[in-house]
Amino acid sequence: MCGIIGYVGNQEVAPIIVDCLKKLEYRGYDSAGLTVLNGKIETYKTVGKIKELEKILPKDLKGNIGIGHTRWATHGVPSTINSHPHNSGDISVVHNGIIENYLPIKERLQQEGYDFVSDTDTEVIAHLLHSKLYGSVDSKSKISSFIEALRSTLKEIEGSYAITTVCSSEPGMMLAARKDSPLIIGIGDNEYYAASDVTAFLSHTKDVVFVDDLNLVMIRPEGAEFFDLDGNVLKKEKTTIDWDIEAAEKAGYEHFMLKEIHEQATSVHDTFSGKLSELDGSVNLEELKMSNEEIRNIERIEIIACGTSLNAGLVGKYLFENVAGIHTDVDIGSEFRYSNPIMDENTLSIAITQSGETADTLAAIRSCRSYDCNTIAITNVVGSSITRDANSVIYTRAGPEIGVAATKTFTAQLVTLYLLAIRFARARGMIDVNEAKDLLVNLKRVPGQIQTILNHRDTIRECAEMFAKERDYFFVGRHLNYPIALEGALKLKEISYIHAEGFAGGELKHGPLALIDDGTPVVAIATKGHVYEKILSNIKEIKAREARVIAVANEDDREIEKYVDWVLRVPATNELLSPLLSTVVLQLLAYYTALARGCSIDKPKNLAKSVTVE
Ligand code: M6R
Repeated sequence: MCGIIGYVGNQEVAPIIVDCLKKLEYRGYDSAGLTVLNGKIETYKTVGKIKELEKILPKDLKGNIGIGHTRWATHGVPSTINSHPHNSGDISVVHNGIIENYLPIKERLQQEGYDFVSDTDTEVIAHLLHSKLYGSVDSKSKISSFIEALRSTLKEIEGSYAITTVCSSEPGMMLAARKDSPLIIGIGDNEYYAASDVTAFLSHTKDVVFVDDLNLVMIRPEGAEFFDLDGNVLKKEKTTIDWDIEAAEKAGYEHFMLKEIHEQATSVHDTFSGKLSELDGSVNLEELKMSNEEIRNIERIEIIACGTSLNAGLVGKYLFENVAGIHTDVDIGSEFRYSNPIMDENTLSIAITQSGETADTLAAIRSCRSYDCNTIAITNVVGSSITRDANSVIYTRAGPEIGVAATKTFTAQLVTLYLLAIRFARARGMIDVNEAKDLLVNLKRVPGQIQTILNHRDTIRECAEMFAKERDYFFVGRHLNYPIALEGALKLKEISYIHAEGFAGGELKHGPLALIDDGTPVVAIATKGHVYEKILSNIKEIKAREARVIAVANEDDREIEKYVDWVLRVPATNELLSPLLSTVVLQLLAYYTALARGCSIDKPKNLAKSVTVE
């Protein structure tokens, strides 16, 4: 998730772009850059925050049209070369999103003589646009108009994008376009903005046009025109928004946590985007530096993590064992670092940490070095400390997470674990093409199913409000749903301060049943699967103690209604994938409970987003 901006008007553009980028910094802040159009394209970029960019801008930088970018790296480490804008000849481009088919296009353009300097997917857009405008790398005469060239470029690229672009041979114009990535046009007094969110230009104008998918915008000082990909002119309505800056950063949501819960349809999609092939049931994980032979030699997987990442790891254990047939242990970072593990070169260690900076996880993975084992880091932060300590680094593509309670990074970690488990299973011959295809097809449906859950959030809110005054809350699940019960309890306790615990259903009678009495709320994750009947019998045990049971169950499950007090619904999916959906329900339950209790949701007491000390 990056921030993009573009400006066309009559003011000096550089200070405006800098001001807008500062407002977008919360979307990403590992590097930044801008291009000013003034007879030529003048581009400045640097690693670090926007104040670093300000330092390198010449005082006399003149021009009234420009584009800018603040980056949260997905392809390529944070570096000046990888930061945007990316240029090709007289064209400059900034981009938010992921181009899935950039590799074959890059290879073709390289054969045509285009020189790629960065590791990014975005550079492909700049060179492809140049080739469509001029026909070849050396040509100086155009073969089409700038907008025609962009239209043709967009027809060729796959993935998601919000783009702004300028070209010095088209001096009075900026073009913008979007697909599956937000783009909003701000309309001021004889001036126009194009940005990835309204926060960027809110202090300049509140009049906006929301750009739809597969639309292009041609912005000149005299006005903004909207087109579809076939060149048809579109009529757009202007809207006036009443958000202040703080509300806009949260895209109108009351808290970052709620915004981040809602971003999961996108972040889950972005994390698997470009990596699945349903045709042959394969997973393409370029980042995994392991040969098929090395994968076949794995005798044991050791997962190390803390907090929510640990709960993702516990789901991973079920996946690696059930799908790939590899014995897997999961350890808490702070425990593992002081243990004497039995490991050798056939052990694979996987560290999971959204921040990449958790001290205990870092120390634990470093201690694995002495065993000569292969290591993988799963993290959301490009260039974070963990990336220097693992043989392979797989990035989740959730974008920056501001709320202390991890939400979208958890589901993105789960997606990465599914990809790894399927990749390992295929290499070891543990699942056939059809089983793999079925999982991948169902995984592709998850973003839409998450959206369905989000659309029904009012039922979850009603339920949360009903139980918001309780002192204790219990969560039960079995098999893959056991770690989801732990995660549901962790979410609830950290933001609502209600005492909450998660149990494996079968363990209830070994102790926890003593805590359950008249009226205690118990959340039972009861999605359909091979342990469904078992969780039903746990629910009956709980009801016999007169507790109140809230079930998380499939949409078509009528049976469950006979035994419980509330049902929170999730769409049906492959049993292995159901944690991705049940989790979203539990995140919303925690959120609305904390909201009803008036808690400080984004910054809970005593907790930090990243625990960088022991
Ligand atoms: O950055 P990490 O994933 O390593 O962080 C681990 C935990 O500190 C983190 O998951 C914590 O438990 C969250 N507050 C949970 O919401």
